[in-house]
Amino acid sequence: MKVLIKDGKALVVADAAARIGDHVSHYPDATLGLATGGTMTPVYQELARRHREDGLSFADITSFNLDEYIGLPPSHPRSYRRDMEDRLFAHIDIKRTRTHIPAGDAADPEAEARTYEARIEAAGGIDLQLLGIGVNGHIGFNEPSSSLGSTTRIKRLAPSTIEANRRFFKADEAIPTHAITVGIQTIMRAGMILLLATGERKAEAVAAMIEGPVSTFCPASALQFHPNVTVLLDPAAASRLALKDFYLAIHPNGEDQDLL
Ligand code: F6R
Repeated sequence: MKVLIKDGKALVVADAAARIGDHVSHYPDATLGLATGGTMTPVYQELARRHREDGLSFADITSFNLDEYIGLPPSHPRSYRRDMEDRLFAHIDIKRTRTHIPAGDAADPEAEARTYEARIEAAGGIDLQLLGIGVNGHIGFNEPSSSLGSTTRIKRLAPSTIEANRRFFKADEAIPTHAITVGIQTIMRAGMILLLATGERKAEAVAAMIEGPVSTFCPASALQFHPNVTVLLDPAAASRLALKDFYLAIHPNGEDQDLL
């Protein structure tokens, strides 16, 4: 894992957007794996700005989101489809037919999950997968105890995830308890992975992911087996890393320079 500790959240966001933007410029027909969640909001804002001001085009990009709440139709204000539409798709030139998010209102969610996995495979897999991490170490909605060999399926959300998601829902709204999520193996098959974490509340999960044993207790720890993972952290998210000084010595200021 390449662990880059940036000097603040703004630099994490700028670095992530620059990497995604460069990838899109070099591989205009790439397949991107996209995430939702608060961490991604400023990254998507910056990608939208690059589209608007620098002409970065997503016209031939294909995207697959990680997950969707079961029970929410795409039009629901809190669905991830609407969220992606509002925060990114409406602001760039991506073709809607090339954007994929599981259908949360599918009559048969299990069949929808299988079809989604098959669609990713048919597209040739994910080239660049963008990830956040949950306070409990989840990636996508692969909660602790998820099989490290899992593919797209239905998962029950952990209490800490439901709690963390509360801020996105109105006080009188029921928070979904289940989601369709790509699996850990689905994520592991991506060509490269970019994971972002900011803030103190992610510090424990980040340490378990990078330095802990590979275990379903922290699903993100499976990424230790992936050959091309870049982790972008702010100092708060990096604060519990035992080898923080070592990572900073290899990559001063979180810069990604040649090692020799
Ligand atoms: C969302 C997702 C989740 C989030 C994670 C972090 O599609 O897959 O794994 O990335 O819960 O969420 P935030 O960024 O809101 O802390």
